[in-house]
Amino acid sequence: MSLPKDNKDSVSEPVKGLEGIVAADTTLSSVNGEKGILRYCGYNIDDLAFSSTFEETICLLYDNELPNQERLDEMTRKVGEARVLPDEVIKVITELVGKTSPMSTLRTVVSVLGHYEKNVPLKELPPKALRLVGQISTAVAIIHRLREKLPIIKADPTKGHSEDFLRMLHGKDPSDIQINALNLYLILLADHGFNASTFSARVTAGTLANLHSAITSAVGTLSGPLHGGANEKAMDMIIEVGKKKKASAYIQNAFDSKQKIMGFGHRVYKVDDARKPHLKKMAKQLWEEKGNMELFEVAEEIEKQVKDRKQIITNVDFYSAPLLYGLDIPKDLFTPLFAMSRIAGWTAHVLEQYRNNRLIRPRARYVGPIDRTFRPIEQR
Ligand code: ACO
Repeated sequence: MSLPKDNKDSVSEPVKGLEGIVAADTTLSSVNGEKGILRYCGYNIDDLAFSSTFEETICLLYDNELPNQERLDEMTRKVGEARVLPDEVIKVITELVGKTSPMSTLRTVVSVLGHYEKNVPLKELPPKALRLVGQISTAVAIIHRLREKLPIIKADPTKGHSEDFLRMLHGKDPSDIQINALNLYLILLADHGFNASTFSARVTAGTLANLHSAITSAVGTLSGPLHGGANEKAMDMIIEVGKKKKASAYIQNAFDSKQKIMGFGHRVYKVDDARKPHLKKMAKQLWEEKGNMELFEVAEEIEKQVKDRKQIITNVDFYSAPLLYGLDIPKDLFTPLFAMSRIAGWTAHVLEQYRNNRLIRPRARYVGPIDRTFRPIEQR
């Protein structure tokens, strides 16, 4: 590309998509893409996945330590008490449901919730951040209940987060395996380095804009099909394929027509996503409990067909899809469910950004023409 010689912005080559750029230090999570290892504050998620709770993960991300029983009880109670929305916010949801997607409604809800919070000094910010962790789950349940014209179910702060969410959503007590499945999902998706939505939250926080502005940015960023929106599209594909024997032709056609296959590929992982085996195992258990393995087997076959043709890794969104669908969660709530988990990481990152802030402000290389002659409008 020929660039103007006196254009200072042309000095350095841009790194498209910021691939490989390390933008800051964090103590929250580390992703080893070569080996497929994800750690939260030094703990391998393989150890946390089946032996822990989402509330423990929140403690870990907020305190950088696993909690003792007292701290965990306190966290469970605080998140439980936070599962309440101001009536005015419920009115906003009532206005929006049916007119826009649940993810767009959720973005607006986060923004509106900010109006009900005071500006507080940094040391008082964690309780405010925790309120959002609780409120997001209630908002997702209410969005669903209102659009289905079902009565809203009040939160029960004595219950665990996963159990209470499923109860508020479906209006009945979930089974143990359903609680465990959602708990596992919420643990596994809680944080993942500088993924796009976390990065956008940190960019917004880096200007010293408030917490709710940062999380609103993050929800908007997560909604895209190349990020959190991929889980819904992956489920569309699994349902469209429908039968195991149709997977081969479907995937061949997708490659031939150069379509991106949703739930595959990752910027960082060179081997399968660290979270995938756990999500796959749990999704399988859920569908076994339902006594219908058809869609799960279609998913497995799609994975095989992709791998047979190209070395593209399976990412977190692929087996999240049959797991959430197995919990009877409608497809358009998949990405809001992702937000319900990632809110733990987003808020922890925003707190980390504020504690050691520097404005995040990269450069752009200008490649357009320069020294153009201005002509008055009547001469154009
Ligand atoms: N299907 C088909 N081909 C793919 C896929 C895919 N899902 N992912 C990557 N590729 C191919 C690309 O076509 C490209 O091939 P080429 O070099 O022959 O042109 C190569 O692999 C590199 O792909 P890029 O898109 O350049 O990789 P990038 O790091 O920019 O993008 C991304 C990563 C966005 C995740 C990409 O793999 C993708 O679009 N995947 C589908 C959407 C998805 O599942 N997103 C969820 C990601 S995980 C998360 O955010 C929670």
